[in-house]
Amino acid sequence: MSRIEQIGAATLYLGDAYEIRPTLGFFDEDVMDPQYKFDNSGGGAFRKARGASDQIVTEGLDQGFDHSIINPLQCGGVVVFCHNDQLHELLPFIAGLFPRYVVNFWAKPNPAPHRNKHYLADTEPYIHAWKEGCHPVGSHHDMHRWIEAASMPSKVHGHPTVKPDAVMSKIIRNLSGTSICDPFMGTGSTGVAAIGAGKRFVGIERNPAHFDTACRRIEGAVTRAAT
Ligand SMILES: C[S@@+](CC[C@H](N)C(=O)[O-])C[C@H]1O[C@@H](n2cnc3c(N)ncnc32)[C@H](O)[C@@H]1O
Repeated sequence: MSRIEQIGAATLYLGDAYEIRPTLGFFDEDVMDPQYKFDNSGGGAFRKARGASDQIVTEGLDQGFDHSIINPLQCGGVVVFCHNDQLHELLPFIAGLFPRYVVNFWAKPNPAPHRNKHYLADTEPYIHAWKEGCHPVGSHHDMHRWIEAASMPSKVHGHPTVKPDAVMSKIIRNLSGTSICDPFMGTGSTGVAAIGAGKRFVGIERNPAHFDTACRRIEGAVTRAAT
């Protein structure tokens, strides 16, 4: 591990999630957006213009992740983003670990262009699974299983798969716990929402550039929460 930053109620680790997460102990919720595993080819003329697809390949964000990072001994519940093509592997794994789960969706009004003789990639699933006593919370109108928000252009934070604030705020509002860990923090979107909701946050990111972005974004969230 090469760096730890304490920013208000957030602790951020620069390093490898598979080494660091097991050392951090129990959190009410693990919220993660790990590498998806999907066929990222195609895109034609639009591919160059958008740039994000090539950055996903360069950073290995289309190679999947080791499911062992999901550990019910270390959390009361998990939220895991994934690609449609991972559901058949991930759902049985998570269903074997937690007594209850649901598949929710982020709906995107601005999906990438149609490619690979498939449907538009206009929804991204996120699985929420929980143990007894850690069930989802919220008012009637905040318990929808989908949230619509435009995807972020990669130029905003220099990262190709940033989750929008509206999506992360909705997810955090539906969690009952007060401590949140994101082992694949990226630019810190989970942390921004967690700090905004008054929760304790711990994030891990291995890419130094994205780690610096997360520090900046979470500093901003801490400042806003204090004013
Ligand atoms: C899909 S992105 C998360 C994006 C994040 N949700 C956001 O809004 O910015 C996954 C992130 O996990 C990081 N990552 C991948 N493997 C990792 C590992 N073993 N340890 C720590 N971080 C890792 C990648 O560098 C990438 O930034």
